[in-house]
Amino acid sequence: MDKRPIGVFDSGLGGLTAVRELRRILPGEDIIYFGDTGRIPYGTRSRETILRYARQDIAFLLSKGVKYLMAACGTVSSTYPAEEAAALPVPYTGVVSAAVEGAVQATRTGKVGVIGTSATIRSGSYVRLLEEKLPDARITALACPLFVPLVENGFADDHGGVAGIVARQYLEPILQADVDTLILGCTHYPLLAPVIRKITGPDVTLIDPGAQAARAARKALLALGLDSGRETGGSARYYVSDDPEGFSDSAAFFLGDYAGGPVEQIRIETY
Ligand code: DGL
Repeated sequence: MDKRPIGVFDSGLGGLTAVRELRRILPGEDIIYFGDTGRIPYGTRSRETILRYARQDIAFLLSKGVKYLMAACGTVSSTYPAEEAAALPVPYTGVVSAAVEGAVQATRTGKVGVIGTSATIRSGSYVRLLEEKLPDARITALACPLFVPLVENGFADDHGGVAGIVARQYLEPILQADVDTLILGCTHYPLLAPVIRKITGPDVTLIDPGAQAARAARKALLALGLDSGRETGGSARYYVSDDPEGFSDSAAFFLGDYAGGPVEQIRIETY
């Protein structure tokens, strides 16, 4: 049993899709979330910059005494080296392996789509792991760089409008490839799931990487004996690198019933 908090981070608000699931399935755990709202997006940046940012995000959460680290960001998960993760003082997980596991379970035809930020798709992380787990898979991988700004600017539920138009254009190759499973390989994208679902139709299984990673984290915590042992009463605290004004309203959209908790601004470049 370990009562220290779980540390979760993302370039912005997208990682809250993982926090929402963590709060739902681990209601007795304390969570510390860092959203790098002052430096978002990560997904359009170079590998070196993403790594520098990820190391600072991790250093900050470690300074808060977390017992477990989750990169609730497809871009960081695709970039942060496994050797470096293995050398951290607490267990670390990204979202890629959990999302791939979800897709492997879901697909019936082996035709799988992956969408993500430019850096995620460029890294080939999802495709490599899918090919390893499903050697006969037919994979279609696409970057959708406008999806994150749409979500961050509140256009996620704009079905008939700009989000719908952008999604229809991006997803055309996915429709052509006739996939039965689509990994939403960036933690912002599940907010666009209703828009995406309208385009793919109901028969395509959409994989939510944050939610999958949260379930994998629960398993890992229990297996490692790191769970708090509490069934209720967990709390959430939020840290951001830009002005926290407006964070609570935007976060409520991501967190739904699990919204609430103090927010504080930090200077992430000092970590
Ligand atoms: N949430 C990030 C991810 O999953 C995307 C946002 C960004 O580009 O920083 O990749």
